[in-house]
Formats: sequence, C-alpha cells, structure tokens
Amino acid sequence: MFFGGDYNPEQWPEDVWAQDVELMRRARVTLVTVGVFAWARLEPAPGRHDFGWLDRILDRLADAGIGVALATPTASPPPWFSLAHPEALPVDAAGVRLSHGSRDTYCASAPAYRSAARRIAAALAQRYRDHPALALWHVHNEYGTTCHCDLTAEAFRRWLRHRYGDLDTLNDAWTTAFWSQHYTDWAQVRPPRATQYLPNPTQVLDFRRFTSDELLAAYVEQRDLLRAATPGVPVTTNYVLGDWVPVDHARWAAEVDLVAIDHYPSDAGPAAEEEAAFAADLARGWARGSPGRPDWLLMETAPNLVYTADRMHTKEPGRMARNSLAAVARGSRGAMFFQWRAPRGGAELFHSALVPHAGPDSRVYREAVELGDRLARVAPAAAGVVEARVAVVYDEPSAWALRARGLPSTRLDHLDDARRAHRALWRRGITADVVGGLDDLSGYAVVVLPGHYLMADRQAAALRAFVEAGGQLVVTYLSGVADEHARIRTGGYPGALRDLLGVRVEEFHPLAVDASVKLSDGTTGDLWSETVHATGARVVASYADGVLAGRPAVTRHTVGAGTAWYVSTRLADDAYADLLHAVAADAGVGPVRPDLPPGVEVVTRRTGDRSWLFVLNHTATVCEVAASGVDLLTGAPVDGVVRVPAGGSAVVRTG
Ligand code: GAL
Ligand code: ZN
Repeated sequence: MFFGGDYNPEQWPEDVWAQDVELMRRARVTLVTVGVFAWARLEPAPGRHDFGWLDRILDRLADAGIGVALATPTASPPPWFSLAHPEALPVDAAGVRLSHGSRDTYCASAPAYRSAARRIAAALAQRYRDHPALALWHVHNEYGTTCHCDLTAEAFRRWLRHRYGDLDTLNDAWTTAFWSQHYTDWAQVRPPRATQYLPNPTQVLDFRRFTSDELLAAYVEQRDLLRAATPGVPVTTNYVLGDWVPVDHARWAAEVDLVAIDHYPSDAGPAAEEEAAFAADLARGWARGSPGRPDWLLMETAPNLVYTADRMHTKEPGRMARNSLAAVARGSRGAMFFQWRAPRGGAELFHSALVPHAGPDSRVYREAVELGDRLARVAPAAAGVVEARVAVVYDEPSAWALRARGLPSTRLDHLDDARRAHRALWRRGITADVVGGLDDLSGYAVVVLPGHYLMADRQAAALRAFVEAGGQLVVTYLSGVADEHARIRTGGYPGALRDLLGVRVEEFHPLAVDASVKLSDGTTGDLWSETVHATGARVVASYADGVLAGRPAVTRHTVGAGTAWYVSTRLADDAYADLLHAVAADAGVGPVRPDLPPGVEVVTRRTGDRSWLFVLNHTATVCEVAASGVDLLTGAPVDGVVRVPAGGSAVVRTG
C-alpha cells in the first residue's frame, strides 16, 4: 500500500528534514513524491545542476525505508529559463503572452522548453537510476496547459495535416462553408484565438484533441528516457480532472505504467463521497486501457480540507481515513495526499497537509498516524480486483463538444450526466466502471451511455455488437447525434444509434431551468425532452403532460440477444436509479449487498477464492451489513453481521 504525499524538502531548512522523516516513519509512510516543483533548485542556472540536497534527502528517506516517487520538475520552469526563452511562455486566446511568477508557464510546442525538459529529466535519471529510494517516476504535474502561440499554430497545422491529409478534407470536416471560413492555404489555419462571435466548434474541438496529443508527446519523450535508464521502475503522471483540462485521459492510459489521479471533491457534504467514487471508478476504467496492472493510485487528495467554490471546508474527524479506504475499496493502491507538510508561504499556503501549520501535535497528524496503521492492516486486500459488470461511458471529447456555445441548452454537461448515471448505481450499491472507450465492452453486462454526443461509425458498430451479443445498453438523450467532427447526422436523431434503439427523434424540447415534465409511470424528468417516434422499440413510459403528452419518453428495443434502452429526458435521481437497478437485475447484476441504507457504501475486491468486503459508513448512525470473516481493521471476527459506527469503516476478509 502506498501511503504518503507530495514532499517539498526544498521549502525547508535541512534541520526540519530529520523531523519530517521521523514523523513519516511514525505514520508508516511508504511513499513520498519529491521534486515536483524543484526545477529552480535542481538547475539554478542553465546546465548547472545542484543535486546535493536531493542526494541527502533521498538517502535519509532510503535509510528510513521510505520509497520515493521521483518527479521531473517540468511543470514549472525557472525564471531564468523563461527570460532566456520568452517564446516558450504560453500565450492565451487573446494573444497575451503570460509571464513567469506562477507555475505551468510553459508551451509544450516550444522546442526550447521540450529540450530543457528532456535534459533535466535525463539528468535526474542518470543520477538516481540506482538509488534505493526510487520506487516510481512521476513525470511533470497535472498536464493541462493550453497555448495559442505561433509555435503552437505550426504544431497544430502539422497535427491537422496528419489527421486530414489535405485541406479539402479539413474544410469538409470543419464545415468551413459556414460563415465563409473556407481555407485555401494551410498557413491560414490557426488555433482558435479570440474572435468576433462564435468560433468554429470543430476547430475548437480539434484544438483540444491536438493539445492533448501535444502534451502526451511531451510526456512520452520523458517517459521513454526514464524507461531506458531504469527499465524496472514504473512511470506515471498524475491526471487532473476538470472542465478546463485539455487531456483525453482514456488515450493517455495506454502510455502510463500506473494510472494516477488527483482528486479534490468540490462538495463539502455527502455528495463528495459520490464524486470521489465516480473519480475512483473512472481511474479504474482508464486502468483497463493501461498495459500495467488493473489497479490505479489516488496520487493526490486533500487530507483535512474540501475546497468548495467559496471556502475551505474542514473535514470531520475520521473522514480522511474513510475516504482513503473508499479509494482503496475501488482499486487504489493506497492513499497519497497533497501534501506532507504545510508551507509557510507561497500561493497555496493554506492548502491541506498531513503535518499542518499547527505541527505534529494536531488532530490531522494523529489521524495520519492512524491511517498509516489502517492501510498497513488492509494491505492484503490490494491483491483483490474490483469486479464491475456495469460500465458508464464518459467520453472527454464529447464533454468538450457539448461545452460549445450555440447548442439547444446551455446546461448540457456530459460529465454531469455521467456522474448522475454513476450516482444512480452508487445509491443502489451496484459497482460500476467508468470507461472512456467504446471499443472493448466485452465483460460488461450493462453499459450506460449518457450524452455520448460524438460518435464515429466504428463506435456505433461496437455498441451494436455489444447488444447483439446479449448486452443491456441504456442510452440517454444526445448520444450519437453528431459524428466525430461534431457534424449532425441527419435524417432524425440520434443518427448513429437510430436503428439500434428503434427510435427516431424529430425535434428537441429543452426545458426551462425550473421546469419538469411528468411521465406516465409517475416519474419526472427535467432539462431535456424530445419528440420520439418508436420505429421498432417498445414504449416503456410516455410523456404525460406538456406538448409531448402521449409520446414515447423511455423505450426498449430487443436486438439480437440484448436490449437497447432509450431515455429521452433527464430522469429524476430516484427514477433513474430504479431504472438502472431494474436493467441490471434483468442482466443478472445486483448490488454488492441488497437494501443498503442510503449513505452506506459497500464494495468487494476479490482474487481467486479470497475476497474482502469494504463497508464505508458515510452516515451519522451505526449501520449493519451482512458479512462473515475477520475485520482487518480491528482483527475481530465477524459472524453474520458487521456493525460499523457512524462515519466509520470496516474491511472484512470474507473468503
Ligand atoms: C493539485 C496540484 C498540486 C497542488 C494541489 C493543491 O491539483 O497537483 O500541485 O496545487 O492541487 O491542492
Ligand atoms: Zn506556445
């Protein structure tokens, strides 16, 4: 089990280091991420390295038996670099060149940046290739910088030439006949910079795809030189999730040895647990596409805080441990935090830490010590694999495309829709993977496709094959409406899936913010409704009021050995949960435990004939869950029922 976090010894005098290492030892820390933002300390002047301090701290950590995720510091070039290479500073959409003075002030298309990044990564690899503390390479930090400069424009054109071959094909894919955007020379094609009115949506979409690939190339070249130096040491980079992140993580998964995510819930209340479960299941879904192991790592989360939109909320006692065990339950190889020791200054001086400003005589550090002990106790469960027979599809390019302006509703949000589908399953105790790709759905009994707006022909074919082979597919509004170039598939929505679903949608009826619509089965929908014609599907529920009264709202269509469901409105949470629960039951998939009280999370990890049941009680009252075996946290036998205190957890070895 990995337990630890980001450690920034460069921010502290060396006499603090001895205390740090002693406190880590007491807390049973096993892994710390070192050097993430240390470029200026490691290379104080061009080509002049100062590794002495890093040698000393790595030696100390190795002596204490603590592993190091050694980071390449390339997310934050030093001021000398930016002054020497101003063309490597990022430019925003309005053409403003940003300055150093924060972090992530780099342009991934600038040759000077790329070569400086390779040089410092290679120097670290050479120096520490045989260091006993080296456990993992942590490349960069949260790739996610977008640049609109001329160097980027050149790289974008190269990428587009590769994608489209010739300008005619690009003009067609981008629908440049609209608003006189027709290109007659590659030099006319640019990143989507600030413009007069709505930008071309396909240009915007392709620019995000390009940015993802450009950042990936920057990652891969570092990875390759690290791998060459240390073939046995896994290489990863920490993913960050968010609207602004121009990274298609599902594609990146194939390039990392271990999927690692940073996750910071945005809700102080119980919704945070649902958000965290979604992120965990998404990481596990990505890990399916990674050549390494099926597990993943929660690389960063905040120990004692939740960063909400307006404040930092202090977590209740015990929540850090429960959240950590919830991540382990869903396949994380441990619990890593941002960060080890809270800084005295800098932009994030109040961010969360295992050793807070108050020092080790604090609730947070005491909870860290307890957590280290718990993680050590549950370590055997790491051998278990999380089994999910249900998949929710989350497609980042579709999420990007639905964020375009000029769509029928400003409230369309594929990420939110994927979260809703996942939450509905979570609330019924059904374990789901959140997957990014549609190519390999084998192994799932149920697939939920919420608002998968962009769809290539081969993806539609994969869905058909899944259903024909006996799968249950639940599709919601706007899936398959556009092709991969964000062009509408005409002849009736949802073009790519019309035949499979046995429906033809003629018009959209987006609903007003506070409006909802009743369905014939007593449930309600909001946000969206549409004129659905059943052209082969059976009607399961109809609209019961408004202009669509009497028309199909929810349908099912038998195709081959399976069923394709269509849901044309955004069902209320309970109705959605009931529907998915019923579909899963039809497919022979049930909850881990039936009839769980709301707020009690239960997950199984299994290998061979050994299994572990994780019970996370997010409620304010004690709960009881059927189980027999031994609770790894307490060592106590469990005979028929495990009682878990309010806010507590249990990990029962059940087999
Ligand atoms: C993470 C980031 C860290 C730090 C942290 C603050 O997303 O990787 O460097 O900024 O957020 O909570
Ligand atoms: Zn640039």
